Amino acid sequence: MSFIEYGDTIKEGDTAVVFLGHESMFPVKVQNGGKTQTKYGVIRHSTDLIGKPYGSKVTCSKGGWVYILHPTPELWTLNLPHRTQILYSTDISLITMMLELKPGSIVCESGTGSGSLSHAIIRTIAPTGHLYTVEFHQQRAEKAIEEFREHKVDHLVTVKNQDVCKNGFGVTDVADAVFLDIPSPWEAIGHAKSALKHEGGRICSFSPCIEQVQRTCLALEEHGFTEINTSEILLRVYNVRTISLQIPDLGKAAEDNASATAFDRGSPSNQDAASPQAGTVQFKSSVPLREMVKVFP
Ligand SMILES: C[S@@+](CC[C@H](N)C(=O)[O-])C[C@H]1O[C@@H](n2cnc3c(N)ncnc32)[C@H](O)[C@@H]1O
Repeated sequence: MSFIEYGDTIKEGDTAVVFLGHESMFPVKVQNGGKTQTKYGVIRHSTDLIGKPYGSKVTCSKGGWVYILHPTPELWTLNLPHRTQILYSTDISLITMMLELKPGSIVCESGTGSGSLSHAIIRTIAPTGHLYTVEFHQQRAEKAIEEFREHKVDHLVTVKNQDVCKNGFGVTDVADAVFLDIPSPWEAIGHAKSALKHEGGRICSFSPCIEQVQRTCLALEEHGFTEINTSEILLRVYNVRTISLQIPDLGKAAEDNASATAFDRGSPSNQDAASPQAGTVQFKSSVPLREMVKVFP
């Protein structure tokens, strides 16, 4: 098992994900003789995990079962031990695209934090790229080094325990991309410029407050960066459901012209819909109710 390469079977030393449901997962270090407690009972690593294929359904001691999943950066983001605020997959996807990361990219990052973004970057730039990640909190830097080793990606990453605003990234003229997730990114822009390769190269800074964004944009301009823009990504999950709405009274002429095919009028074949009430139409919708008011005033 490695976070960058799929392994078929669960081995001693792997980090596996115990999946009880979409809202209930946790990582486990697989150890000979190890035991993991779940609400469905104990999982014995030697007999229940080691040698079994990833994706196996494992029965726990009380008879309930769980799935054992191969780790991915996305599952790690959902299950990692939080030492800081972290970046989640929606933002990570935009960052990866805007920084044009790909296999072979050289990337500088600060701070490492809990390593959520770092794992995603490493997976993207493998097998020939490298991540230089800078974290000034000693325990966080040490924990990140330990996790990268356990996840067998340590050859793709260098962790530096220093203040990026004072000491930079420890590399010059090599980075294809720089990413900042620190409280005062404007203080690190000069170091980011030194780390970037001479031509091209992209920088992204993540800030929760618009004042931080403004100061960072000014610093970017002062250091000669171009094509500066600010983006936010909002994820909207569609929740498709059957709804019932009153038919507006548009008069007889409109009724004669109305196309019966435009709506599902609650035919008996519509299994999941309750019987329609007189004067209503039923159809599938994913539009939030708030916005529907605008559609059907
Ligand atoms: C919000 S966390 C980063 C989370 C990370 N992006 C992730 O996805 O897990 C910010 C981290 O930056 C570190 N940090 C803040 N200022 C720094 C600086 N000047 N130099 C290095 N690290 C810094 C903090 O110690 C903290 O761990």
